[in-house]
Amino acid sequence: MKHIHIPKILKIDFDKPVLFKQQVAIMFTVLIISCLLFTVVYIQQLISGNIAAATESEMSRSSDASEKNDKPVGTSKPPQTSNGAQQSKPEDESSVTSVQEIDTNALGNMTNVTKSYEDIHYGELILVNKDYSCHLEGENVESIFETKSDSYVVTDKYVSMDPSVLDYVNSMLDDFYANYGETDIMIACGYRSYETQVSLYNNEIDSVGSEDAEKWVARPGYSEHQTGYVFDLDLNIEGGNGIDYSGEGNYAWINENCSDYGIIVRYPAGKESITGYSEEPWHFRYVGIPHSQYITNNGITLEEYLDIIHMHTSDNPMLMEGRNGERWVVYSVQADEVGDTHIPVPENHEYSISGDNCEGFIVTVKL
Ligand code: DAL
Ligand code: ZN
Repeated sequence: MKHIHIPKILKIDFDKPVLFKQQVAIMFTVLIISCLLFTVVYIQQLISGNIAAATESEMSRSSDASEKNDKPVGTSKPPQTSNGAQQSKPEDESSVTSVQEIDTNALGNMTNVTKSYEDIHYGELILVNKDYSCHLEGENVESIFETKSDSYVVTDKYVSMDPSVLDYVNSMLDDFYANYGETDIMIACGYRSYETQVSLYNNEIDSVGSEDAEKWVARPGYSEHQTGYVFDLDLNIEGGNGIDYSGEGNYAWINENCSDYGIIVRYPAGKESITGYSEEPWHFRYVGIPHSQYITNNGITLEEYLDIIHMHTSDNPMLMEGRNGERWVVYSVQADEVGDTHIPVPENHEYSISGDNCEGFIVTVKL
């Protein structure tokens, strides 16, 4: 049998008491060092756990506002070609495919952004409906007559919207034109002033009575058109009556794909009791990606979406995954009605903060 050589120091030799004592001393020392190492590692873990807990509690107290990353995540520009023209949407354009709850630790180090209560009224996720009025007064809108793309027309040079939305509208309607070659798409209406809404509302009451008017035209002050994030499509056809867009035939492509451009059909069929309005396939609202995709993929309204997001605070945020592996984290922060609100945001990820116009703020983080 092959002889295995064992180092002398490891052989216990009971016949040599001196060597035996040395061996016992060495083993004892090794044992003590192991215990010490284990204790040090254990204490380190305990300390880091406490620090993490302390950081989280400080996050909610600190008033140290850091807005360096506060750029709109969902409003980043659509892809552009090297000559500046917007690219068509790739075939497998990202769309939210799965949603999970995750730990805030996934966001890394956090800091705070401070907002006042008034700030809840601004941002692409504001809810404007029969219960929540619009606080914007056209300060964010511009005429799109000179800046719109050539693949559609507008009724006149006064058609306006928030410029951050226009890139998405242009991109969507360019892609529609590239796919179908239809030349009659028209934006009939974008931003509406309070005064315009007064006259539309009164005309509708004169024409159909107040009960029916409420199903189609918002009371002045409560129209989404006052946000600048909305537009109505129409067809530029001879003899048209101004309500010719039904989102059918080739045009269904727009209604089916708008969510990949950050846009939703705001008043879908079957949701009248939630939105308060009859189906309007021509009325589109920008909310940004990934929100538009979640809303559309789940067949819900902005009202229902915000109800879901309000259940996800920074302690149990929602992780949304696109089909190409893009990941966003979304959570809400209830606003303090009397003082400032400190909104936890990640130090090392791009994020945007939007008011919701009802409870507080929605944070969207791009991982
Ligand atoms: N037609 C929509 C509801 C509005 O008037 O804002
Ligand atoms: Zn409309």
